[in-house]
Amino acid sequence: MEPACGPNSQICSPDGRLQVAAALEAGSLNLIVERDGAALLRCRNIGLQLADGRRFGGSARLVSSNADAERTRWETVWGRNQTIDCRYNALSLDLEGEGGDRFELQVRVFDDAVAYRVSLPDAAGRGAVRVIEETGDFVFGGDWDAWWITANHHNSYEQLYRRSPLRDLNHVETPLTLRRSDGVHACLHEAAIRRYPTLTLRGVGENRLRVDPVRWSDGDLAKTSIPFATPWRVILVSDDAAGLADSETVLNLNPPSRIADPSWIRPAKFVGVWWEMHRRLSTWASGPHHGATTENALRHIAFARAHSIGAVLIEGWNTGWDGNWTKNREQFSFTQCYPDFDLSQVCAAARDAGVQLILQNETAGGVARYLDAFETAYDLYAELGVSGVKTGHVALGRDIDRRDETGAPHKELHGGQYMIDYLHAVLDHAAKRRLVLDVHEPVLAGGLHRTYPNLLALEGARGQEYNAWSEDGGNPPDHVLILPFTRLIDGPFDYTPGVIDLLFASSAAAECAGQSIHDGAGRAERPALPNRVNHTLAKELALYVLLPSPLQMAADLIDNYVAAPAFDFIKAVPTDWRWSRTLTAEIGAHMVAIREARDGGVIALGAATAQAAFELDLPLDFLDPDRIYRAEIYRDGTGAHWRDNPLALDIEHRRVDADDVLALRLAPGGGQAVLFVPD
Ligand code: NOJ
Repeated sequence: MEPACGPNSQICSPDGRLQVAAALEAGSLNLIVERDGAALLRCRNIGLQLADGRRFGGSARLVSSNADAERTRWETVWGRNQTIDCRYNALSLDLEGEGGDRFELQVRVFDDAVAYRVSLPDAAGRGAVRVIEETGDFVFGGDWDAWWITANHHNSYEQLYRRSPLRDLNHVETPLTLRRSDGVHACLHEAAIRRYPTLTLRGVGENRLRVDPVRWSDGDLAKTSIPFATPWRVILVSDDAAGLADSETVLNLNPPSRIADPSWIRPAKFVGVWWEMHRRLSTWASGPHHGATTENALRHIAFARAHSIGAVLIEGWNTGWDGNWTKNREQFSFTQCYPDFDLSQVCAAARDAGVQLILQNETAGGVARYLDAFETAYDLYAELGVSGVKTGHVALGRDIDRRDETGAPHKELHGGQYMIDYLHAVLDHAAKRRLVLDVHEPVLAGGLHRTYPNLLALEGARGQEYNAWSEDGGNPPDHVLILPFTRLIDGPFDYTPGVIDLLFASSAAAECAGQSIHDGAGRAERPALPNRVNHTLAKELALYVLLPSPLQMAADLIDNYVAAPAFDFIKAVPTDWRWSRTLTAEIGAHMVAIREARDGGVIALGAATAQAAFELDLPLDFLDPDRIYRAEIYRDGTGAHWRDNPLALDIEHRRVDADDVLALRLAPGGGQAVLFVPD
């Protein structure tokens, strides 16, 4: 390795495969990263600049360096794994900036990641500061492909991922996922974002990406106070795509839970009046087609109870939806119901049925108003026994309302610090009232759910709803096979699987005028397809395993479930896991994963493919060798094909053990979902 800036300025991962050297070279503070003895990338010119003129970076002087290590195991409240090993070696450089101010470069090296952050400790002088620049370039060697979405897009994160050579990237969001020509995978993201904006990356030359955090409307990068640290800048590295999907490093880099007693946080599946609205069979707005009537809510609660679905989501219950709600955001009330919706009665029914009730609060980007209103609303919800809130921030471009200390209005981006500060505040107050959150049109929060496990899920990607109304015909078959390696690196995604009426046969054609569903603009380059779900039924079921979330919707109209054999899988599949493993995967092509239910015993398997058929004879050696299991298999039927024959589904129950082999024969756009239930 090249000369480092001091005798203790090199560290390696616990398994020794990743080596990192810190170096002060020609006025640039750098990290040189090697893997298996060969160059991987360099992080160059790491630094910060404050509005008061202070610079912390390459012209610094090294005061001292400290090496450290962590080998711990912690228990999750929910998630893909009940326990997570946190193993890394750490290096902290104590540096003196140009004007004599002290700062630190902290580096952690995990077996599957390198992470660094700049920290300004007390010694840099306490008090409020404005960060106006963060510098840092990731410079990769070799040929890399990237899966990316555009940064600060008018539709925020709700875009189809594209793939292109790393050298062609312009301005992209993280998680940014990369694959080198020899198969090494990497993902650039961040963790522990506090009083700071989210990260975007700009392509600035051959295989070189520059950190470019989202700015406030006044041009500041962060408004914070010393002591503080930037979020961790994380580079996940893996031999294969599966390693990225299974990494828990982003969580490991977040502070532990702030919720001392999380016993009230209960992962669940949920049904709701949601899909009928997106299908335009009922409306959020008042009138003859209003979806959130007391009667309809009670119907969903009764259904949830009868089928052991843990929760019900109600949207459109509160006033403010009439007319163009995306423009009239100030009309929304978060406490006043439409006259045909009796909140107390619905809450009482949910309580009696033992079903959690989730109420939607759409702000349409009116965050300043919501900050004034939400505590009163949350008090009411807590009093009525509501379990959670689904917040929404439908607003295009830089259109999130903020008011400054003088009351003057400003417009912010979804990825800016304002949204991070707001999310922390809402989670904190929600936790005090024992409310969980599901945040739509969110800021991606870099694993914040470790610190706030009441943050059950975020949206922040194109979900099922695009299949209902997107003008480009919805999500193509590869979309859900890109998400586990990109968007899900941040944390669970409320995709809302479970639509079994894939071709929308149940469209009662009650076209509900005046409903503004935020548009699918920006995807015109995709061929137009008629609206439907663009994969097979077996693949739709597999999504419950492949897109894990503690909150999983059974999204379809409940009437569609009544006589559907596929619903048996949806009812039975767990949402919280003891352990998880991706068995094989290729980004955008196929994925096979297994997860064991947290409450023991049942192992779920999900397999899916994009446009091409996929076959695998899978040894069941992951089963307990001392047990016999009943395999409940949901697979593509004969002749299944996502385009012409998506509903062909074979269901088979048979006894298996760890010596058996399962034949995965996935149709184009197909899948397989299996529950192994101990006998
Ligand atoms: C978009 C959200 O993603 C969706 O879940 C919600 O139903 C609508 N906005 C209306 O708030």
